[in-house]
Amino acid sequence: MGIINVAELKPEMVLAEDLRNLDGRFVLAKGTKLTKKHLRILRMWGVIEANIRRVSRKDVEENTIAQLDPAVIEEVKNLTGERFQHADLEHPPVRELYRLCCLRRARGRSGITLRENLGPHDTAKKQIDSNRLSNDGATTIDPHELIRNDIKLPSLPTIYLQISEAINRPNSSARDIAKVISKDTSLSARLLKIVNSTFYGFPSKIDTLSRAVTIIGTMQLSTLALGMNIIRVFKRIPSHLIDMKSFWEHSLACGINARIIAGYKKIQNTERLFVAGLLHDIGRLLLYSNAPLHAKNALLSAKYGNTLLYKAEYEIMGFDHSKIGGLLLKKWKLPISLENSVRHHHSPHRSKDPLEPAIVHLADIMTNALARGSSGERFVPPLSPDAWECIGLSSNILSSTIRQTDRQIEEIIQLLF
Ligand SMILES: [Fe+2]
Ligand SMILES: [Fe+2]
Repeated sequence: MGIINVAELKPEMVLAEDLRNLDGRFVLAKGTKLTKKHLRILRMWGVIEANIRRVSRKDVEENTIAQLDPAVIEEVKNLTGERFQHADLEHPPVRELYRLCCLRRARGRSGITLRENLGPHDTAKKQIDSNRLSNDGATTIDPHELIRNDIKLPSLPTIYLQISEAINRPNSSARDIAKVISKDTSLSARLLKIVNSTFYGFPSKIDTLSRAVTIIGTMQLSTLALGMNIIRVFKRIPSHLIDMKSFWEHSLACGINARIIAGYKKIQNTERLFVAGLLHDIGRLLLYSNAPLHAKNALLSAKYGNTLLYKAEYEIMGFDHSKIGGLLLKKWKLPISLENSVRHHHSPHRSKDPLEPAIVHLADIMTNALARGSSGERFVPPLSPDAWECIGLSSNILSSTIRQTDRQIEEIIQLLF
């Protein structure tokens, strides 16, 4: 018997026990011999795994690997191993993520060449030393000072505040809220496009904002509006330190992953997790724009010292981007749950309410593992065992989350950027 991922189920396999979906709803009876039609239905019904007779998970995994060229697998393992060097491969979900990344790369779905990204180590010392010389007089920095510096930081667009006000007014109807949103025509158009995309996957077209508000919900739509507005604010920040396209791809993939995982956890308003993922590294944009020298030192130190970027930031500045991101969201008076997820996405155990930060933490790690864009980090950050336990899901959600994100991301990138 073995718990097999739905993607690896094959016709003729026999169920060792009754199969239920994540809601606990009965799907197929113990003893059923699976057919191609069953496999299609299982995916449609959101089943992520099944207990199969006379097959072990190890057999299935080895069989999947055996179908690939051994030389390619070896090369891919080395490259992926470099990216995972700060992660604990003994931890089962991390091992599963590593396995999925190796398979994906071996099948040619991820084209990055890690050796180029990781850089030559022998030049490390020289680079850091020369960089430190350029840091004279700029060694201390106050995170609150960065936030106070409004010169390069536009304020939150008023449309979001107007939407919030409309939602909080008693007796506001879906039509009233749609009226406020429609004041911003470009926001309205993008909201409608996203509502009609694979992100929601509704079978019929939603052509008016008031219908979108009714179907999706006021809080959900206002959360989406918030995320899109913030992207607009930061899109105008020029930076020579970061490829902005890559930054937003990383943020968006993290947001989509977080929303899907939140769905598995039956969290209401999964859009909140989408926006938390979208904004999780926003502190880095502040650093790149308002403290470029320190940010550059951290990037170089991480690159040539072979360390994680958030640790290098902490060593150089005494705080990292998650702290500054949390302070910014607090300044903007955004919902406390968003601030909490951004502030603690590298340390969910420090949060009083760790579930949502833990989801963003996992979503970020998955995004880094798959090298979906980058906010500057080149390695897979370690997965906190406490965060994984707090999420409390099977590691088989990893592959189904990756598959769904793959389906949604290209369309959302086109819509938002
Ligand atoms: Fe981060
Ligand atoms: Fe990140």
